[in-house]
Amino acid sequence: MVGDELKRANGPIFITGHTGFKGSWLSLLLNHLGIEHFGYSLEAEENSLYKRANLESVSKGVVGDIRDLENLSKVLTEVRPSGVIHLAAQPLVLKSYQEPIETFQTNCIGTANVLKAAFDTPTVGVILAITTDKVYRNDNTGRRFIESDPLEGKDPYSASKVAAEAVCAAWQQISKTSGGPKVLVARAGNVIGGGDFARDRLIPDVIRAVTSGKTLQIRSPLATRPWQHVLDPLVGYLKYLEVGLTVGSPPKALNFGPAESSLTVSQVVEIASDLFKEKLSIQFHDLPTQTESQNLDLDSSQSNSVLAWKPRWNQEDAIKRTFEWWKCAFSGAKSAIEECDKDVKDSILRG
Ligand SMILES: NC(=O)c1ccc[n+]([C@@H]2O[C@H](COP(=O)([O-])OP(=O)(O)OC[C@H]3O[C@@H](n4cnc5c(N)ncnc54)[C@H](O)[C@@H]3O)[C@@H](O)[C@H]2O)c1
Repeated sequence: MVGDELKRANGPIFITGHTGFKGSWLSLLLNHLGIEHFGYSLEAEENSLYKRANLESVSKGVVGDIRDLENLSKVLTEVRPSGVIHLAAQPLVLKSYQEPIETFQTNCIGTANVLKAAFDTPTVGVILAITTDKVYRNDNTGRRFIESDPLEGKDPYSASKVAAEAVCAAWQQISKTSGGPKVLVARAGNVIGGGDFARDRLIPDVIRAVTSGKTLQIRSPLATRPWQHVLDPLVGYLKYLEVGLTVGSPPKALNFGPAESSLTVSQVVEIASDLFKEKLSIQFHDLPTQTESQNLDLDSSQSNSVLAWKPRWNQEDAIKRTFEWWKCAFSGAKSAIEECDKDVKDSILRG
């Protein structure tokens, strides 16, 4: 069962970015599995899942900035974790055009700080850094990327994550030559699931259009993305962390993507349209975008073979499940935390 090795590990799991979308679902998953964890992040945003589900009351953690090495080191030393999952980032492509320096400071220097602080904490055995599918040099052919493909980020966000990968490679070398924890890298695609409200993301944009009555503007209907339910890569991250703690030389980087080919943005919008009917009005702008890549697909065969990991939900089920979460939230039938718990239980049962 996923998590058994982490329960046996000597110390909690330290999560950077625990107040974010993935971090909130990860905290719920770890709570469900009975694995001790501790978070370190900026303050949760107003409409975040962290606030909606009142996660402050069920998960331990502190407000802190990964750009502040001194504070980060102090907290890590006090928490004495066995492993670190580094999620904290400025993760938005369009924001990275407006704030490239902040994006690089958080994603690149922040990652170096997390690695330095974790290497200085003797209890830490493994660090898993979360980058993205957008680190691959993208020729827009739709070919599935494998882990050994060349990396290149065109937009500032992708470039900052390629820089984070370079930082991880440097600490992998430090670990090899001077000893220290293992450094692993996970690359996943676009995650979806209840409670994501980030700007410039498709599913939150659909939800904002439904609640405000405004027309949904679709900027690139034919773009493809490897949509997957957030719990799928999260279960993969935990399995990877366990392998990191127990296996001598695990792969240095792994992809976590859906099994089938990526759906287009317009296919996702069609599913939303079927579910929300007249509550959703849509306008398509068929302009090829210069700011984001058109096609993205990941080959996850290595995660399948090394971790026995595969996604529990196909893309269509994941999309439907996400919209159902929101419909339930609008109706007030269940609390956000109850809805998340239902998805967590279903996900674990399927595994
Ligand atoms: N959401 C996706 O579709 C997706 C896809 C691929 C990769 N990723 C990666 O997964 C990770 C988590 O993404 P998310 O969607 O949960 O993002 P999010 O924006 O919901 O959460 C980001 C988290 O990072 C924290 N953070 C940001 N700057 C920080 C700083 N300077 N110091 C401390 N904490 C800071 C925030 O407080 C928050 O907890 C990121 O590394 C992101 O690049 C996300």
